[in-house]
Amino acid sequence: MQFEVFTLLPEIFPSYLESSILQRARQRGLLDVRVHNIRDYTHDKHHTTDDTPYGGGGGMVMKPGPVFEAVESVLGPISLQTQPVAVPVILLTPQGRVFTQRVAEELSRHERIALLCGRYEGVDERIRAHLVTDEISVGDYVLTGGELPALILIDAVARLLPEVLGDPTGAEDDSHAMGLLEYPHYTRPPEFRGWKVPDVLLSGDHAKIEKWRREEALARTFQKRPDMLEHAELSSEDLKFIEGLKSKSDSHR
Ligand code: ADE
Repeated sequence: MQFEVFTLLPEIFPSYLESSILQRARQRGLLDVRVHNIRDYTHDKHHTTDDTPYGGGGGMVMKPGPVFEAVESVLGPISLQTQPVAVPVILLTPQGRVFTQRVAEELSRHERIALLCGRYEGVDERIRAHLVTDEISVGDYVLTGGELPALILIDAVARLLPEVLGDPTGAEDDSHAMGLLEYPHYTRPPEFRGWKVPDVLLSGDHAKIEKWRREEALARTFQKRPDMLEHAELSSEDLKFIEGLKSKSDSHR
């Protein structure tokens, strides 16, 4: 899978992309991230990429010229994009649809994605209207630019690609992947400062361990993110267990 990143701050990207799982994925040819400096597509002496907003008011706005030229020099003229778009051009912005595991799964089905990182107060509206095909926000808060959101998106999508994670069951059991928060994990030692690993995990009884993990995931989700239970895939046994949690929490009120 290939990402084309367009940014005014290309120096932000290497340290993250050259570490750990993403580095290995790139070395194995599973992931390719090309970072393009929008400033390289300016033609004036000062390499201007922003300007004051028409109509006044504070802040600066990213000019359309360098952004269009950067994206089109890499993807080709936007007028040649077929519908549905061959390569999505995603603007990272707090105004976008909120990024979730579902959105990561959807994006992981593309072979190539362009990410446009906004800076300053925003981008000229013609970029949004005529170049961008999707807008994504990483959450309801405002950052100084779209670079961290782009890295978040790349990270979440890359780890869903076949073979990127070492473990063959990969991302299947992740928090959110199955619509629930993940069960608790333990490793050696079996007792640390008097705190013991639950006996069931040392029992070697895989059916019992699976049941315990499922119930822990359900209980955690019920406690911390009850909203997720409305969309999770639940068996009749799960539902019975949740009913039990509900009546327990009601009786504690
Ligand atoms: N740029 C600034 N804030 C952002 C956010 N929350 N998500 C995506 N891009 C952004």
